[in-house]
Amino acid sequence: MTALHNIAGLRADQRFTDSDHWATHGAQWASGESRHIECLSVVDETHDVKTFTFHSPAYHALAYEPGQFLTVSPVIDGASVSRCYTLSSTPTRPFTFSITVKRVPGGTVSNWLHDNLRPGHALAASGPAGVFTPVAGPARKLLYLSAGSGITPLMAMTRAAADLHADLDIVFVHSARTPKDIIFREELARLERGMPQMRTLFFCESQGDEPDWHGPLGRLSLETLQREIPDFKDRAVFTCGPKGYMDATKALLAGAGFDLARYHQESFDIGAEPEPAPLTPGQAQDTFTVRLARSGKTFTMRADQTVLAAARQAGAVVPSSCSQGVCGTCKTALLEGNVEMKHNGGIRQREIDKGLRLLCCSRPTSDLVVDL
Ligand code: FES
Repeated sequence: MTALHNIAGLRADQRFTDSDHWATHGAQWASGESRHIECLSVVDETHDVKTFTFHSPAYHALAYEPGQFLTVSPVIDGASVSRCYTLSSTPTRPFTFSITVKRVPGGTVSNWLHDNLRPGHALAASGPAGVFTPVAGPARKLLYLSAGSGITPLMAMTRAAADLHADLDIVFVHSARTPKDIIFREELARLERGMPQMRTLFFCESQGDEPDWHGPLGRLSLETLQREIPDFKDRAVFTCGPKGYMDATKALLAGAGFDLARYHQESFDIGAEPEPAPLTPGQAQDTFTVRLARSGKTFTMRADQTVLAAARQAGAVVPSSCSQGVCGTCKTALLEGNVEMKHNGGIRQREIDKGLRLLCCSRPTSDLVVDL
C-alpha cells in the first residue's frame, strides 16, 4: 500500500465500506422527506431497460452509499404511487444520480416511467435509503451475483470501487435471459479492462438472436461456481435479483458449505404481513390511543395493527412504499410510547436510538405520540 492510497486517514478500500465517507459526498435528505427531482436524460440500456438520470435542484450533490435506493412517487391516474429503485449511479459522482428500470408486464410504475418520463420532467422522490451496501459486509474479496435488473446495486458498487481505485478483488457474475438482455454489458467489459482484480462472467439462459455468443449457457450451478471461482468460499457475497434467483443462489451456497454470515442480499420482494382480520363480536383485543403531534389527530388502534395502517385509516397521509420494513420511506419519530418493530433492514440502529421507527412494521405496546 503506498502513501497515495492514504487520503484523510483511510485507504480507498476502507472508504468504500465507510458510511461516514459516503455521507460527506453531498447533501442528505432528511429521513422520510420527499423532494422533487428533475429528469435530465433517458437512455436505452436494452430493449426493455432504461436509465433515467436526475438531479435535485435543491442540492448541488446527493450523498448516498453505493447500493442504496430511491423511492419515486409519480402521480398515475390522479394517485401518487411509490416504488423503490436502486440507484445504479455511483455516489463518487454525486451531482447527478440514476435509476435503471426494467419494463415489467403489469408494472404500474415501471411502465409509466418508460412511457412518460422525459428530460425536464419533475418527480417526487424520497430516500436514499437501504442497507444493501458495502458497509453491510466489509471485505476485500467480493463475489457479486445478480440476475436481470438486480444488476443495478452491484453496478453502483463496481462503479464506486473503480472511481475510488479501491484495492478490491471483485468477481461479478450476472445472469440474463439472452445476451441482448445483459444490462451494462459494454461498461462492465470496460471496467474489467481498467480494474486488474475484477472479472466478469455472464450466464445466459439461451443465445437468443446472438449465435456468436460463446459465454456459458444455462443457470449458475455449484459445478460452474467451483470451476470458475474456486475461491468463492473466501469471498463476501452480495446477491440481487428476483426472489426465485436469490433463494436458489442462497441454497446453492449453503449447500456448498459457504459461511452465510458473509452472504448479503437485496430484495423488495419479501412477503408483506397481512393486516389482521376484523374482530369478531365479543373477541377481546388490546387497544391504544395514538396522537399525531403535527396534525393534532387522535385515534384508537388495535395492538395487532401496524401504526401505518391505523394512521391511514384515521385519515393521515403517511408516505410509504414497500410496507415491509425494507425501504425506510415510512420512517417517523416516535415522540412518546413504545412499539414492537419487526423490520427488514430499512432502519439503522443509530436511527432507532434517536427515536425513529418504521411505522409499516411497528405495532403499539402502549399509547403513542407520533411525529406526524
Ligand atoms: Fe418501506 Fe415502511 S414503507 S419501510
